[in-house]
Amino acid sequence: MPLACLTDFQAFARERLPKSTWDFIEGGADDSFTRDDNIAAFKRKLFVAKHRIRLRPRYLKNVVNVDTRTTIQGEEITAPICISPTGFHCLVWPDGEMSTARAAQAAGVCYITSTFATCALEDIAATAPRGLRWFQLYVHPDRQLSKQLVQRVESLGFRALVITVDVPKLGNRRHDIRNQLDLKLNLLLKDLHSPKERTSMPYFQMSPIDSSICWNDLSWLQSITRLPIILKGILTKEDAELAVKHNIHGIIVSNHGGRQLDDVLASIDALAEVVAAVKGKMEVYLDGGIRTGNDVLKALALGAKCVFLGRPILWGLAYKGEDGVKEVLNIIKNEFHTSMALTGCQSVAEINQDMIQFSRL
Ligand code: FNR
Repeated sequence: MPLACLTDFQAFARERLPKSTWDFIEGGADDSFTRDDNIAAFKRKLFVAKHRIRLRPRYLKNVVNVDTRTTIQGEEITAPICISPTGFHCLVWPDGEMSTARAAQAAGVCYITSTFATCALEDIAATAPRGLRWFQLYVHPDRQLSKQLVQRVESLGFRALVITVDVPKLGNRRHDIRNQLDLKLNLLLKDLHSPKERTSMPYFQMSPIDSSICWNDLSWLQSITRLPIILKGILTKEDAELAVKHNIHGIIVSNHGGRQLDDVLASIDALAEVVAAVKGKMEVYLDGGIRTGNDVLKALALGAKCVFLGRPILWGLAYKGEDGVKEVLNIIKNEFHTSMALTGCQSVAEINQDMIQFSRL
């Protein structure tokens, strides 16, 4: 039976993957409240309980030619649906990130490659040379190491640096602790360590993230690269205003798929506050809980320029590698096309706040 929606891929991946890998992908922090809320919030606004986000369709608008194309940081993508950074793709499929990169290139969308990629960055770039790629950086306490990595990704043609700000420390992922996953993940990392280093310590001790990093350090990053810098994980207007002040090029509103601080707002519930705070001075994107074309439409109506998918890409990879990721992207792009047509939008630029309402249950 063909898989018809993104959650069909989730069910397949659950069947196919070893338990510890499945738990690693699906897991949230602590009670996984925010992970689950990311999805529920598209249907139901929790902070105004009993309200839900609903669409307001407009008809008789000639939707023969619906155009889903848009741009991010000035580069064209075929739809405002791209790929969030997730680590360790080789846990799920043998040539991991290389398959993901080829699928993204074929779909004409951006792939944010994680610092915790399990294929060498050179191989990822070479396998999909025409694909739009950004690189997600966890800043290492050894600044020289980070500088070398930044220069390497710049020379490999990555087009933006995404700094993940919500991991000064790893969230409490209970399943991973119970499954003692660390060593397995260590062995998969390609870019960060010598083989000798890969053997014993927990991966976050081995690949430490600089928890001292703060706003003033962004000027150091800006001094070592010409790439636009995007901050991933901003959830408040205060931080959004600081991002504007520090000449950042974009924000991904995100709570790391509910894997870091539990009990924060669902991404979609934090979006409007961030969009209002930046006052159009930079592009705002969103990830977390996007599972359907209607979710994409709602996020764009609330001010996102583009959304990114995390877990659904890994489900696609687990299903059939490159072809599985292509299928996932195709399905949600087609759903989004339908959402646009059925709400009366010919172009992405027409999507606006008037297309949604908060209705009482
Ligand atoms: C992630 N995420 C993540 N984020 C990041 O900045 N760097 C990383 O290496 C990872 N790794 C990672 C691994 C796995 C298995 C998951 C599920 C997530 C977070 C990711 O980029 C994104 O924010 C969420 O996955 C988005 O939520 P959905 O689409 O999974 O609901």
